[in-house]
Amino acid sequence: MRLFATAAKGTEPALRDELRELRLRGVRADRGGVHFEGDRTDAARACLWSRVAARILLEVGSFEARSAEALYEGVGAIDWSEWLTPRTTLAVRATCRSSQLTHSQYIAQKTKDAIVDTLRERLGARPSVDRDDPDVGVAVHLARDVATVYLDVGGASLHERGWRARAGPAPLRENLAAAVVRLSGWDRERPLLDPMCGAGTIAIEAAAWALRIAPGLARARFGFERWASHDDAARTMLREIREQARDARLRDGPAVFASDVDDQALARTRENAREAGVDLAIERCDVRSIAPLVPAGTIVTNPPYGERLEADLDLYDGLARSLRTMRGHGVALLAGTPAIEKAIEKATRQPPAKWWILFNGAIECRLLLYALA
Ligand SMILES: C[S@@+](CC[C@H](N)C(=O)[O-])C[C@H]1O[C@@H](n2cnc3c(N)ncnc32)[C@H](O)[C@@H]1O
Repeated sequence: MRLFATAAKGTEPALRDELRELRLRGVRADRGGVHFEGDRTDAARACLWSRVAARILLEVGSFEARSAEALYEGVGAIDWSEWLTPRTTLAVRATCRSSQLTHSQYIAQKTKDAIVDTLRERLGARPSVDRDDPDVGVAVHLARDVATVYLDVGGASLHERGWRARAGPAPLRENLAAAVVRLSGWDRERPLLDPMCGAGTIAIEAAAWALRIAPGLARARFGFERWASHDDAARTMLREIREQARDARLRDGPAVFASDVDDQALARTRENAREAGVDLAIERCDVRSIAPLVPAGTIVTNPPYGERLEADLDLYDGLARSLRTMRGHGVALLAGTPAIEKAIEKATRQPPAKWWILFNGAIECRLLLYALA
């Protein structure tokens, strides 16, 4: 099976490394995600274990579609009875670039028509549409007039781990936080601190990664469990890989610290960590007074920005002065403004050792990495 894991823009290298560590085959990073190959166990393992992926998609067809008729014909040539019956529901999402067909809604509509018409012809009745909670999620991507049709193997986006009861005002998505922790170079042995933790997403994802808690374990059902082809063999396979995932969990991990100045943020972090089943050392502390970790470890954080510029500039100077005392630490800052990098450079006279452009939703950010000497 040809599979494609989607990721937040810029996090493809982190996802590629993660899928390689899961020993999946044919792993190759591309725009917006990573291609890989495998059987249905591999697809299920990716859903259960990937922290960085947003969706795992199974490719079910690829063909040239310069017109609506060609799209309709190509989609109709796929054998949909393997996944859908007249009693199940579907929803279609579409994206397109550099193609004759330019309206994604129209592409989705045509694709849906082709699916339901073929099934009605074959089975005498058609499945219905459910946009909110479909049994089968179909994604069609049109690029340079080639349509690729996918099924959503995981179902709802995989960033929803099930532990985030309280999100707070500016939370990172769990899969973006996981990518940031991975790219930070943290070794999962030394301590880690998020000194502006908000709802605790970075610290919780870090602790869960270190403890090998499978991110998909709390999910009631994956998308493929609702497909017509989901049989007893697939049920047994899923039970087994879930059991293996439960056994893989470690008892102890490295110290993970989370602090913030806001009491409500700390309450959210506490509740979310409890739900996620991880132990964090949580305390109220201004980032301007944090002490170095003992032994030296990694600071990973996502400072606020864009609300009150004056206050933010003062905060970045304070953050930079704190970081100056962190000899031997690794630092990863997800910066939504260049002012953060400027403040660090002014205080430490160090440019970032590495940086990446990552997208937090629509916001272009830089992930800045420093090795403080
Ligand atoms: C962008 S949010 C972090 C969001 C977090 N990554 C999450 O996923 O929920 C920034 C956080 O910095 C905190 N903060 C602002 N000023 C601070 C300071 N001086 N010291 C510590 N935390 C601060 C805010 O309370 C807020 O929770």
